[in-house]
Amino acid sequence: MRLKNKIALVTGGGQGIGSGIAMKLAQEGVYVIVNDIHYENAQQIIEKIKQFKGNGVPYQADVTKSDEVEEMEKFVSKEIGDIDILVNNAGICKFAPFLETTEEVWDKIIQANLKSSFLCCQYFLPGMIKKRGGKIVNISSESGKRGSKGQSAYCASKFGVIGLTQVLALEFAPFNINVNAVCPGPIDTPLWEEMKTEFSVLYGLNVANYKDYFVKNYPISRMGTIEDVANGVLFLVLPESDYITGQSININGGAVFY
Ligand SMILES: NC(=O)c1ccc[n+]([C@@H]2O[C@H](COP(=O)([O-])OP(=O)(O)OC[C@H]3O[C@@H](n4cnc5c(N)ncnc54)[C@H](O)[C@@H]3O)[C@@H](O)[C@H]2O)c1
Repeated sequence: MRLKNKIALVTGGGQGIGSGIAMKLAQEGVYVIVNDIHYENAQQIIEKIKQFKGNGVPYQADVTKSDEVEEMEKFVSKEIGDIDILVNNAGICKFAPFLETTEEVWDKIIQANLKSSFLCCQYFLPGMIKKRGGKIVNISSESGKRGSKGQSAYCASKFGVIGLTQVLALEFAPFNINVNAVCPGPIDTPLWEEMKTEFSVLYGLNVANYKDYFVKNYPISRMGTIEDVANGVLFLVLPESDYITGQSININGGAVFY
């Protein structure tokens, strides 16, 4: 219970990495607002949190839409209080060769992965400034550090998240607000169920054994787990990381060293 009485918003917390982060924070005593575009999924995570006597509330909003983020901020600050922790996790991914990446796909990915962080930071930072402190963790990716085949829009969005993280770290350090990113490698989440076929086609793999690619090509021979990422995020919101800001920390089994 190292974070008792803290309030956190986790975007895209209804499944996958976001759900693991939400539960990890709740285990440390944080009151967690679990945002998702799919309300029932967020509600289920809150039920799980309540099973271990944690606390929180589900909140449905599409974080690519400024009016919905604004409404969410009004609800949170009025009904719960200004947040201490913001985890910008919501995101989408699609593998497609560059020449087959339509303008529509490009816009959708940039909005879900980059604009969403911009909007949530714009609406929730004033509350943190009022509190004279806070921790923001943006979920970037290994694809925010190096290009990967078939991920032009995704890489552009995740490189963008790292740039945004660095700028916010500089601008808000005087208010005792730390802004960092984590860069996960391949993490075994429901996202891969959607992507495994297009990934396998593009990389010439047998879809039934696509995970073998990560076993062969990553120094730590496996996909990452949701817990691996949640542990990294927890460190970045604890007081132990108070002197760390503007960083983009790899959680990728040794795939990238910078
Ligand atoms: N799984 C991986 O291998 C991996 C690797 C690196 C980075 N990431 C990043 O981690 C984050 C989570 O990925 P995941 O694998 O858990 O994906 P996921 O698809 O399992 O979960 C993403 C969640 O975000 C929600 N979401 C999507 N768009 C939203 C929106 N506009 N508003 C609100 N909620 C929205 C979805 O409904 C879903 O619940 C993403 O930003 C992703 O890019 C994932």
